Amino acid sequence: MFTRSAVRALTSQSRLFSTTVARQTKVAVLGAGGGIGQPLSLLLKSDPLVTSLSLYDIRGAPGVAADVSHVDSASEVTGYAADKLDEALEGVQVVVIPAGVPRKPGMTRDDLFNTNASIVRDLASAIGRVSPTAHILVISNPVNSTVPIVASTLAKAGVYNPSRVFGVTTLDVVRAARFTAGIAGVHPNDASITVVGGHSGATIVPLLSQSKYGQGIKGEVYDKLVHRIQFGGDEVVKAKDGAGSATLSMAYAGAKFTHALLRGLNGEKGVITPTFVQSPLYKDQGIDFFSSNVELGVNGVEKIYPLGPLSAEEEKLMEACLPELKKNIEKGKAFVESS
Ligand code: NAI
Repeated sequence: MFTRSAVRALTSQSRLFSTTVARQTKVAVLGAGGGIGQPLSLLLKSDPLVTSLSLYDIRGAPGVAADVSHVDSASEVTGYAADKLDEALEGVQVVVIPAGVPRKPGMTRDDLFNTNASIVRDLASAIGRVSPTAHILVISNPVNSTVPIVASTLAKAGVYNPSRVFGVTTLDVVRAARFTAGIAGVHPNDASITVVGGHSGATIVPLLSQSKYGQGIKGEVYDKLVHRIQFGGDEVVKAKDGAGSATLSMAYAGAKFTHALLRGLNGEKGVITPTFVQSPLYKDQGIDFFSSNVELGVNGVEKIYPLGPLSAEEEKLMEACLPELKKNIEKGKAFVESS
């Protein structure tokens, strides 16, 4: 007999991972020793679509790997110390990057730029050299700038393929579903919300009008919900009181997005989720990267969906989003140009 908590764990695992037949997929986590990296590594170890897991960090990855490797799923786990980045990247199809510093109370994601820009640039440069065809999933903030940094670094090396670089905005989608479901009194699975734009404050635009349970939310409740989706990360930063930002919910979101990509890479059709990618949607306004619904397939990005009809409130949110997003993207590109 399963205990009640075992049943709960199994139920939540089957919600996170569908059990499609696995092909050989080697996934690397860069920053595996951190607050996100550790639980993310554990969740990826439980993903049946991951057959080999390569854990790298400038500190602590071999320990995390030894620990996680005892979990009784089929995948092999190897940990790599600071001087073993190239070995960690050998033969990987998917690289997830949660390396870098997190926020402290009072900081915006952009305040992390100075430290994280060079970390992400150097990791992207190693990926371009060792595993240039890998799909790269960027978690390190500020995502609005770190994704352009990865793209520009790979372009400089002559190996950039826009179908293979993703900013992970899944936590915004997860929060939107959870918070909306709480207001509507339904299960979060029934309250999925498309979140578009970027991944920081005003650049996060939830399209509540397109959701059955979101469209009825109006007035002050609507304003508060939008604010909570946009600034939900601050609640965690404040509650952790100097000990970092979201790690557990982010690990869940990172594993969820990785699993969606692996389903697409395995040939499953109709895997659609928002992610921050090189996008034609606002290119005429000088915005090269944007998050909207993307179909994931054997080549990574298969199809980028337009936003669809927006309410008057959402048009206003987009007006606030676009100029800030443009600035963030340009900052990332300029950093690589001047490197
Ligand atoms: P953390 O400080 O707990 O862990 C970061 C890890 O990166 C550390 O283990 C550190 O040793 C490692 N690291 C630093 N430089 C490295 C390098 N050059 N190569 C490999 N590893 C390196 O931070 P935490 O909480 O795990 O956050 C990581 C990043 O994720 C932060 O930038 C944070 O802002 C971001 N984040 C992104 C979210 C999103 O929705 N995309 C949500 C929450 C956080």
